[in-house]
Amino acid sequence: MPSRILAALMGIPAADIGLFKQWTVEIFTLIGAGVATEEAVRTGHRGIGAMRDYCRALIDERRARPQDDVVSALIATGTPDDPVTDDDVAGMVMTMIAAGHETTTYLIGNAVHAVMGDARSRERCWAPVLASRR
Ligand code: HEM
Repeated sequence: MPSRILAALMGIPAADIGLFKQWTVEIFTLIGAGVATEEAVRTGHRGIGAMRDYCRALIDERRARPQDDVVSALIATGTPDDPVTDDDVAGMVMTMIAAGHETTTYLIGNAVHAVMGDARSRERCWAPVLASRR
């Protein structure tokens, strides 16, 4: 769900969500892992490079044909005196996707795990759902 919402906000086609999930996993193989093995660095670098290239292509498209999405809105913040570069926009988009995806995914996952793992919480949270289906 978080990646679907982030993709919709950014104007990323739903068909490409799987790519972003894979690149985010690769990026977090290095960032936050606390280990900088050759493999972790290579994997993280691969994810960052691929996501950056994708964002640049998307930015080119949005510069040519702006849409009602965050990428177009970021591009539009540029002024003649203070233009917004592709790297500015790509950096912001990648930060929002990485920062917004892992956090919310694990928050939802941990919340469901916590509720379903505790009998009293399960009763309080799940019983009304089941009752509504009877
Ligand atoms: C459970 C959900 C989330 C948690 C717990 C969370 C937590 C955080 C924390 C603690 C920081 C500060 C990091 C620091 O100062 O070093 C941060 C920064 C940030 N978060 Fe979130 N976040 C969440 C969801 C999101 C979402 C959904 C987005 C975007 C759509 C997002 C975008 C960002 C960005 C862009 C920054 C960097 C802000 C800056 O450097 O000025 N986060 N987040």
